[in-house]
Amino acid sequence: RTALELSAAIADRLVRVAAAGGTATLGLVPTMGALHSGHESLVATARAQNDVLVVSIFVNELQFNDAADFERYPRTLDADVRILARAGADIVFAPEPGEVYPDGRPLVKLDSGALGAKFEGASRPGHFDGMLAVVAKLLHLAMPPASCPVPARYSAYFGQKDAQQLVLINRMAKDLNYPVEICSVPIIRTAEGLALSSRNQFLTPEQAEAALVIFRAMNMIKVRADRHEPLFLEDAVALFEEEPLVELDYFELVDPNTLQELAFNCRETPFTGEGLLLVAAKVGQVRLIDNTPLGY
Ligand code: PAJ
Repeated sequence: RTALELSAAIADRLVRVAAAGGTATLGLVPTMGALHSGHESLVATARAQNDVLVVSIFVNELQFNDAADFERYPRTLDADVRILARAGADIVFAPEPGEVYPDGRPLVKLDSGALGAKFEGASRPGHFDGMLAVVAKLLHLAMPPASCPVPARYSAYFGQKDAQQLVLINRMAKDLNYPVEICSVPIIRTAEGLALSSRNQFLTPEQAEAALVIFRAMNMIKVRADRHEPLFLEDAVALFEEEPLVELDYFELVDPNTLQELAFNCRETPFTGEGLLLVAAKVGQVRLIDNTPLGY
């Protein structure tokens, strides 16, 4: 649908679901398609919590710092639409690039600041600015239209898998006064512990097996945190040295709200409080990210 058709369809649905004089709830799940059970979990949560559910599918070139990564990103629109129909989405918004960026690259840009330059941002310059650009637009495009006679509460759903993305979207919504509640949904993993990702299909079985070191390393630290022991993050980092197929990028303990590094690394300090372990590693051409909360 075009953006205008999207607004009309949203208004139409909101009016239909709201009882006379009543209000309605609208949920948006932004995705880049190639849907897997991680996306389906977001969709199921949003479906359960809202009267009207919009899912967007758009592979946003602006957030790819590597042209080859953009070209090979999996595109499976027909299968995605079937999944979303089964999952009960009311509206699938799968715009063409010209619909989202009618004037090409935006002139006025969002800046993800110091946080956007760290962790994933350090390896993928411009990634988070491009991500914010499209999320800002999608949040606008799927907003309950001002002309809609039914007052609607508006929520958008994002996965905890992309922890840095989630923190930045929360900050953008706050900094720019978006009238939307940002909701987060836990990470979905394979039975063995690999976090689901549209890029996992590029892993050979051998690489997928080796990538499980990420889950083992996070769990090693989680067990220590649960026992309020010193964390010795370097023991987890050492596990990666035994997996030649996996090249560790970072393994950091951060504040879950700000992603500032925490210093629970040292030998003497028993872990108390809350933290988030952030991990990124490269397996062949595939970049994998994962995280796990500590102390909850
Ligand atoms: P995409 O990678 O398609 O992910 C869409 C949403 O699904 C994101 O909120 C992501 O965190 C969530 N997700 C992915 N894998 C998950 C998993 N294993 N468990 C739980 N949630 C998972 O993230 C993007 O697209 C884009 O950056 C987007 C926000 C759509 C902007 O282009």
